[in-house]
Amino acid sequence: MDLKSVLATEMKSQVLSSWPEEDICKLIEIPKHAHLGDLAFPCFRLAKEWRKSPGVIAAEIAQTFHSPTFKNVEAVGPYVNVRFDPALTGKEIVSSILKQGVQYGSHPFGNGKTIVLDMSSPNIAKPFSMGHLRSTVIGNALANLAEKCGYETVKINYIGDWGTQFGKLIVAFKKWGDEEKVKENPIAELFTLYKKFHEEAVQDPALEEEGRKAFKLLEDGDEEITGLWKWFKCESFEAFKTIYTLLGVNFDSYNGEAFFNDKMEEVVQLLQEKALLETSQGARVVWLEDETLPPCLIKKTDGATLYATRDLAAALYRQREYSFDEALYVVGQEQTVHFKQVKGVLEKLEFDWARSMKHIPFGLYLKDGKKMSTRKGRVILLEEVLAEAVAMADENIKKKNPHLKGAEAVARDVGVGAVIFHDLKNDRLNDIEFSLEHMLTFEGETGPYLQYTHARAQSILRKAGVASPYTFNGLKDSASWEVIKQLRLFPETVERAWKGCAPSILAKYLLELAKSFNSYYGNTKIINPDPEQESRLALVFAAASLLSQGLSLLGIKSPDEM
Ligand code: ARG
Repeated sequence: MDLKSVLATEMKSQVLSSWPEEDICKLIEIPKHAHLGDLAFPCFRLAKEWRKSPGVIAAEIAQTFHSPTFKNVEAVGPYVNVRFDPALTGKEIVSSILKQGVQYGSHPFGNGKTIVLDMSSPNIAKPFSMGHLRSTVIGNALANLAEKCGYETVKINYIGDWGTQFGKLIVAFKKWGDEEKVKENPIAELFTLYKKFHEEAVQDPALEEEGRKAFKLLEDGDEEITGLWKWFKCESFEAFKTIYTLLGVNFDSYNGEAFFNDKMEEVVQLLQEKALLETSQGARVVWLEDETLPPCLIKKTDGATLYATRDLAAALYRQREYSFDEALYVVGQEQTVHFKQVKGVLEKLEFDWARSMKHIPFGLYLKDGKKMSTRKGRVILLEEVLAEAVAMADENIKKKNPHLKGAEAVARDVGVGAVIFHDLKNDRLNDIEFSLEHMLTFEGETGPYLQYTHARAQSILRKAGVASPYTFNGLKDSASWEVIKQLRLFPETVERAWKGCAPSILAKYLLELAKSFNSYYGNTKIINPDPEQESRLALVFAAASLLSQGLSLLGIKSPDEM
């Protein structure tokens, strides 16, 4: 059982019978320094009720409060600090990890509910950006956490495959494109053509008009133009798939923007029926003044639909198709207003479920402290980042473990894991400084550090040659107790990470777990034929399995050797 609940139960029965156990539980803290105790109960709230100073109350409680599972109880200022009996409590915790296996840390509160995640969603004919990487890895980790909490998930890759930019691209291709070159290197070539269009359009404004016409032809289903569009899409998909395979991310749906072309009329109809559609400078808009938002553009003057129109249709479709209980949009914070508008319009249409739509924004990647920009050449391509990370990991492995079997696969797991972890350890909304060197060191707060810790644990287990199942009979030393306390935080960490939509909570937890494990491992002779060896191995096994499980929730592999 969770230590906080154990303490809360005891508190309720011995001291605070009139308080709900949940309230007690919420107040319980973990002391900053381990030597102060395992858990602390602050007496500030009681001070108001009992009309005494918190320090006096803490001292009073500490005098009588006790339980067989406690080693000692002590008042430290306004806190009642409790230390648990490591042998007794530890046995319960480690045994339940060993028994539950991958089920440990699961929660039932999402059972029977469905979460839809709009994630990754790159744009065809454009490079897969670091922003799309963020959406992909954050979305994937959130989906894993949701599943761990019992939810069904639907991961949707809302590919950006529609919009006026395709008209421009088609014009550019017809004017300057070379089929062979595009086949060789589709995304880079198409992106170059797209950029050329914009450069040329500065001199020759007529190009813009040509682009608009080409897009109109595409919308009207012109055969040649549609053929080109399909080809671009196909080539882009191939390139994206390589990235997804490397990242180990799958999707349940690839219904992108174009999929909703024939589904937007319904939205327009609904808006019309509710008299929400108004004309503004020739365009059709929904006013969102009450929401203090700019009007949501539904149709342009020429009747063309927009990004928001497609998102409205997509939301309707998803609610119908998946009856979601929650819909998460994992998209950069620069689109905050857009998602507020979409939600605002759906609320105006009186769809109750619109309230369960949630934008999950995130910060930018910075290079040398500055925003990346294609124009200024400060752009980083994910494909190159991944390739470089894998190459660096490979070099590292060759130095440290030249005879490693399956080194290629390990280098891939380490390189990719490094990139993913570097992203997820940061609070979602913070900007991230891009640095391959930092991502890949084996020391410090990195993915490879966690993977290495896990591999180390696996290697002792192999060396010990004792096969699982392991049994844990209790250990008395303080280093092992620090590891056990971290282990028991796993379930509540999973819950907090999910509820806060914050994979970083899990990432930071894993670093703490690894730290406590490494200091245990560094100071203890694990393999030593004495009566406690079996328990030590069981503890190593439990730590390794939670490290691996935690990494896997973040979408990171944990090789057994590296
Ligand atoms: N393709 C868009 C972009 O790259 C992201 C799409 C986000 N999802 C959505 N439902 N609008 O900016």
